[in-house]
Amino acid sequence: MIGKICGTGSYAPSNYWDNNDLAKMVDTSDEWIRERTGVVRRHISVDDTTVSMAVKASRAALENAGVKPEELDLIIVSTITSNKIIPCAACEVQKELGAVNATCFDMSAACSGFLFGYNAAQAYISSGMYQTVLLVGSEMLSQIVNWQDRSSCILFGDGAGAAVFRPAEGVLPPCVTYSDGAKGQVLSCESRHQKGWEEKVKEGSTVVYMDGREVFKFAVKQEPAAIRKLMELTGEKLEDIDWFILHQANLRIIESVAKRLKVDMAKFPTNIHEYGNTSSASIAILLDEMNRKGMLKEGQKIVLSGFGAGLSWGASLLTW
Ligand code: UT7
Repeated sequence: MIGKICGTGSYAPSNYWDNNDLAKMVDTSDEWIRERTGVVRRHISVDDTTVSMAVKASRAALENAGVKPEELDLIIVSTITSNKIIPCAACEVQKELGAVNATCFDMSAACSGFLFGYNAAQAYISSGMYQTVLLVGSEMLSQIVNWQDRSSCILFGDGAGAAVFRPAEGVLPPCVTYSDGAKGQVLSCESRHQKGWEEKVKEGSTVVYMDGREVFKFAVKQEPAAIRKLMELTGEKLEDIDWFILHQANLRIIESVAKRLKVDMAKFPTNIHEYGNTSSASIAILLDEMNRKGMLKEGQKIVLSGFGAGLSWGASLLTW
């Protein structure tokens, strides 16, 4: 058995900040942000929470799939910006949806979260442990971004994306995943729920710290290598892949991956201009947009690939 995505959904708050709004907050410009990142605007929550966005994306995905909430037997929410420590966001989503038969837990793998969640959903379905799975990536990054740091705040935004899986005949292809905790310091944010948190807040370590150059170098090297490894393990050829749906971190990173793989950029859809980097929601939002535009055809081969804090990264093969 394999998990087949039978519905997708996404949600972003209607409120947005464009680059000129950010230029009023830090020493930057619309031109710099567009050229260096590809971001034009990002959606920022006013009333939404990580859970409310996850619920809206999930409702859209369930409707798209024609699946009733009570049919779900597993809900995984990938997030690094959970509303509460307990209960987990997935249980709160379950409550709102009325998905009374689902087992629920959260996953924390930052920008690799949707990719790792995709692999987890596939593993559970192919083992026969769960059948109908809801996977959600939801992030309210505006709550943890350092809005005084121009070298990081220009990238991030809020949003959620979801996918519903059902079992189908097939064999689970190999996937490629990596973690390197020894390099974790280049992208970090400490919890406010720890001893001495007042000091951490004062020193500014409870908001996102990012060594952008190091993350950039890591991403442009490791993401194409992971995709090549995936091709080797699955026996697929790059030219036979219909779409490369990458984590939307920086347009220049996506362009660099396409160039290194020698694949036409037309196969790398992007929406970073609209949302910025929404961490574990970014792949899911893009997948949903493509699905709703009718860009995804039955049998198409899609590579999902992401990277982020941890460090963590990888690539998976999805047949639509
Ligand atoms: O999901 C994973 C999350 N993170 C990432 O994927 C981040 C990956 N890294 C990046 O996207 C890029 O490194 C950034 C967009 C963060 C930065 O772009 P860059 O081209 O690597 O810029 P840089 O850090 O090398 O800085 C170049 C210059 C510096 O000035 P000097 O030293 O050359 O005078 C910076 O001070 O640009 C300056 N700078 C800015 N100027 C205007 C840095 N941020 C800004 C800014 N506006 N917002």
